[in-house]
Amino acid sequence: MQIDILTLFPELFTTHFETSILKRARDAGLLNVSVHNIRDYAQGKHRVTDEPPYGGGGGMVLKPEPIFDAVQAIIGLNSDSNQARNQFPIILLTPQGRLFNQSIAQELATENRLILICGRYEGVDERVRQQLATDEISIGDYVLTGGELAALIVTDAVARLQKGALGAEGAAEADSHADGLLEGPHYTRPETFRGMQVPDVLRSGHAVKIRQWRREQALRRTWQRRPELLLNANLDEEDKQFLMILAEESIHGM
Ligand SMILES: C[S@@+](CC[C@H](N)C(=O)[O-])C[C@H]1O[C@@H](n2cnc3c(N)ncnc32)[C@H](O)[C@@H]1O
Repeated sequence: MQIDILTLFPELFTTHFETSILKRARDAGLLNVSVHNIRDYAQGKHRVTDEPPYGGGGGMVLKPEPIFDAVQAIIGLNSDSNQARNQFPIILLTPQGRLFNQSIAQELATENRLILICGRYEGVDERVRQQLATDEISIGDYVLTGGELAALIVTDAVARLQKGALGAEGAAEADSHADGLLEGPHYTRPETFRGMQVPDVLRSGHAVKIRQWRREQALRRTWQRRPELLLNANLDEEDKQFLMILAEESIHGM
């Protein structure tokens, strides 16, 4: 998968892609991330990338030309932005976009290529949204200084879904939100820490019992912390029976 990130601050990305899973995914050829400086595509001696807003008001707005030119140069097209729009998602990071979640990450992970556009200041000229972007993503209902952190979050969530990016096969499928539930607790050595024991079942070596315990813990955690997720989760009959037990426990204050 190829991810191209357009930003005014490429230096913000260097360390993240050089560590851990993202580095492994890049080294294994599963993912290539290219960070492009929007300023390199700005015209004139001063390579101006932003101007004050029409109509007045504070802040600056990112100009459309360098962003259009950057996208067209990156994907090797001349001046037809519609051609670019048809090829793969061109995503504008904005607090006004659809709210990013695991199912959007799963959807994007199936693409061969993504282009992520990071705004700054007051945002980007509206014509980028109208004529270039094919999708708009927000990472939450708050406003950041720029789209770079949002681009990192989207890239990270999508990269770890690439087949082979995580060490253990199937690890991503057990993660929180992968099938609509939160994941249950994890333990590692030592067996006893400050009087707290690792649950016996996890040390039993009994694969079926461990699987069942983990499923029940995931259901319990979701029930306790994010019960609304259960409405859309993939639940079988056994899950539903266990949820009935949890409901009983709640009623009787256990
Ligand atoms: C200060 S914000 C601009 C906010 C804009 N004036 C508004 O009210 O919608 C600058 C840039 O940060 C990025 N940004 C800020 N918050 C974001 C969020 N929650 N999700 C994704 N990108 C965000 C966007 O790229 C945005 O163009």
